[in-house]
Amino acid sequence: MTPIRSAIRALGANTVRLVLSAGLACAFLASPAIAQNAQRGAELSKPCAACHGPDGNSIAPNFPRLAGQYEDYLVHALRSYRTGARKNAIMSGQIGNLTEQDFRDLAAYYARQKGTLAVIRQ
Ligand code: HEC
Repeated sequence: MTPIRSAIRALGANTVRLVLSAGLACAFLASPAIAQNAQRGAELSKPCAACHGPDGNSIAPNFPRLAGQYEDYLVHALRSYRTGARKNAIMSGQIGNLTEQDFRDLAAYYARQKGTLAVIRQ
């Protein structure tokens, strides 16, 4: 018998299961803080719809389409307006009161919408 097996036998399988599930529970409980909530993002996106369209498919060419873009790209873009790395008077006005969690939720929402962006190959 391997040392691990004999250790498990000594502890009792139930104890091992308890320890393992406690570990999983911790991982699960720790995640909501960084998790995205697309449904909440949908609520937050209402003021954005005027320019970007209700589902992120803007119809005006001067407003970028957000639907179907990579989630991490959208978070990055929003952070860049916040830090000033990306400067745009309209967008820096839009993100004023939003938190980091709001950015994640908005990005989760738009990334899950069906986008109409396509790569044109020539
Ligand atoms: C008054 C119009 C307007 C509103 C409202 C608006 N935006 Fe924008 N948004 C723009 C414009 C214009 C740009 C392009 C700016 C640039 O060139 O950097 C943009 C760019 C973006 C980008 C970068 C897209 C890309 O492809 O790089 C994101 C992400 C974004 N907006 C998210 C939002 C969110 C989220 C909201 C709501 C909280 C919002 N916008 C509200 C006009 C608007």
